Amino acid sequence: MFPPFSILFLWFSFLYFTSSMADPHSLNSYYSRSNSFYDVLLSHGLPKGLLPKGITDYQIDADTGRFVVFLDRECNAMFENQLHYETNVSGTLSYGKIGALSGISAQDLFLWFPVKGIRVDVPSSGVIYFDVGVVFKQFSQSLFETPPVCVPNSKSQHRKIGNGNQFVKMA
Ligand SMILES: *[C@@H]1O[C@H](CO)[C@@H](O)[C@H](O)[C@H]1NC(C)=O
Repeated sequence: MFPPFSILFLWFSFLYFTSSMADPHSLNSYYSRSNSFYDVLLSHGLPKGLLPKGITDYQIDADTGRFVVFLDRECNAMFENQLHYETNVSGTLSYGKIGALSGISAQDLFLWFPVKGIRVDVPSSGVIYFDVGVVFKQFSQSLFETPPVCVPNSKSQHRKIGNGNQFVKMA
């Protein structure tokens, strides 16, 4: 009634199912989905206002800290300077630091600079540093306590201003 083949099939399905559940390399293997990305930032000693309101989803690899955050649209948020967020923001998260950042640019002197990394001092000194290529721009960490409202703003407006790298070299 119950041929061995079926038993094998069930057994392998079971193995596949349990191994995929336990895979330490799967995204979100450590951070539960009930944590928002803002909580993930806080647990890494970073202010949650680094990302604006409007996060629809995120993925993070707990082993490498590699993450992607999905926003509902690309947009600008005003701090001391204006920041532009792409729809997908990615980077590598470690304690007090985001490296290999992509998807955030900062406006300075009417020009846009891609932000390549963000870090705070550990223990915190209240200062936050934005790596814009050649220099670290300093801000007060208190500016980033609350996720700001992000105003829709397209990249085309952005592109007219040019590639931030060139301007960093000129500055
Ligand atoms: C953002 O990521 C999603 C999912 O990986 C992808 O489908 C989409 O094309 C990406 N959008 C942009 C603008 O890169």
